[in-house]
Amino acid sequence: MERTFIAIKPDGVQRSLIAEIISRFERKGFKLVAIKIVVPSKNFAEKHYHDLKERPFFNGLCDFLSSGPVVAMVWEGEGVIKYGRKLIGATDPQKSEPGTIRGDLAVVVGRNIIHGSDGPETAKDEINLWFKPEELVNYTNNAEKWVYGDN
Ligand code: GTP
Ligand code: MG
Repeated sequence: MERTFIAIKPDGVQRSLIAEIISRFERKGFKLVAIKIVVPSKNFAEKHYHDLKERPFFNGLCDFLSSGPVVAMVWEGEGVIKYGRKLIGATDPQKSEPGTIRGDLAVVVGRNIIHGSDGPETAKDEINLWFKPEELVNYTNNAEKWVYGDN
């Protein structure tokens, strides 16, 4: 089953939005298979955002991600990578639709509270960067048969 990497950034943690954010993924029907709270080093943040290293905001972004606790998670479900991005909303909260996490809960692009992998390759790389294989839990959630039916 498809998996994606989701992180609640330091602003989301400080604003007490952990439960709110987890709840949106959980209520949708996605399954939490890994979770931890960590303060990433600057070097680790640079690895996570390596694709953006030429951008003018890269240094500030990495300083910010490493400025406090981050809740790192892996969520599993059919279409979770793409639909997870839909739940999150557009990068700039000024452009995110109401009803999305960033649309409802954030105001500026530099403090948009959550990260989600943008495709299958980045999902795989980010899960491997943030988690050891043994930190991912394989289990059956009893609600699955109600979320997916018999097929
Ligand atoms: P992530 O899920 O965090 O990766 O966001 P994204 O995929 O929606 O956007 P992208 O990967 O392009 O940018 C990563 C992060 O950099 C964003 O979430 C923002 O926090 C930050 N960012 C992107 N564009 C800007 C910008 O123009 N200015 C500033 N200050 N930050 C930006
Ligand atoms: Mg991104």
